[in-house]
Amino acid sequence: MGRPQSVPRRTAQAAGEPMLRVEDLSIKFVRRGQEPTIAVDSISFDVQAGQTVGLVGESGCGKSVTALAIMGLLPPRGNRVEGEIHFDGTDLLSLSDKQMRDRRGQELAMVFQDPLSSLNPVVPLGVQVCEVLERHKGMRHGAARRRSAELLDKVGVPDPTRRLDEYPHQLSGGMRQRALIAMALACEPRLLIADEPTTALDVTIQAQILALLKELVTESGTALVMITHDLGVVAGLCDQVNVLYGGRIVERADRFELFARPRHPYTNGLLASIPRLNSPRGQRLKPVPGSVADNIPWQVGCAFSPRCGAASELCRAEAPHLERDEGGAGHEIRCHHPVGRPSESADDARSAQDE
Ligand SMILES: Nc1ncnc2c1ncn2[C@@H]1O[C@H](COP(=O)(O)OP(=O)(O)O)[C@@H](O)[C@H]1O
Ligand SMILES: [Mg+2]
Repeated sequence: MGRPQSVPRRTAQAAGEPMLRVEDLSIKFVRRGQEPTIAVDSISFDVQAGQTVGLVGESGCGKSVTALAIMGLLPPRGNRVEGEIHFDGTDLLSLSDKQMRDRRGQELAMVFQDPLSSLNPVVPLGVQVCEVLERHKGMRHGAARRRSAELLDKVGVPDPTRRLDEYPHQLSGGMRQRALIAMALACEPRLLIADEPTTALDVTIQAQILALLKELVTESGTALVMITHDLGVVAGLCDQVNVLYGGRIVERADRFELFARPRHPYTNGLLASIPRLNSPRGQRLKPVPGSVADNIPWQVGCAFSPRCGAASELCRAEAPHLERDEGGAGHEIRCHHPVGRPSESADDARSAQDE
């Protein structure tokens, strides 16, 4: 996928340095008298300017807490965040609350899953969009109102000037989500995190919102982190995909490579659960068996092994590392028995039993 050659409005980035570099990020929730919950376990990924990177996985795998950690929006107490989050060369985890607040809205923006709970129900939409522009761009009210209407128009809200005076409940779900995207774009962020932005919407609106995000990234060189449980969403949008399971990245590849040659049994299962137009009639979709509640801790073995048809003793006794797959450039997998190499898998299983 083409990346814009020149990145407008941006400060010069060090050559080759990604816009966002998450390194060994771990997030634990701690409660007095209880074992900590490890929500995210040493994940690393990069996002370049103008690139869309997906974080994909079932509910509870750590997608939202990763996003909140990047935005500095985790609650101040009850959790421990370790690792590094470099944004354009600065470690965000080293910044004060005030410095983070200034960056949010100016440079970092997030679109949440539920548009209704992200908008204030008793304040007209226009006031909410204008507030972002007045606060972060220093615009006067008249200019902010004109710009708000422009932004709503850009994200496909019909009759935007009239909409500015309406309250969130007067808008449909799709319109509310568009309005939130308009607010996120108001400050022309350099990094946008979209956390399941289309989950609450019907399919046609979903497709429009995804097309809109794609256009924005291509036009403005914004780095986009797309969070979803739906590999179908990834197919049309993401350049690079990170598949998460139980708080760890289990597979990473560019989109074409991932869809053509999924190596992790979990990714393979997710792909098999996507409806396809060319499937034979009457063929049933295969959901990934079991649920995240069946996980074993990574400290014991592969968290996915209780749900995995290929699991061996080795998987239950020893967690695999994220390793480069020889086949595809940049393809990485965390699996003792990757899909598509049956003979080697059998060898591994035998050697585990010998140990
Ligand atoms: N405030 C919290 N206290 C304790 N555990 C939490 C809290 N928030 C999230 N978690 C746990 O962190 C894990 C990841 O959650 P989350 O990032 O919301 O998942 P996802 O967005 O992938 O569905 C889950 O197991 C969840 O139970
Ligand atoms: Mg979530």
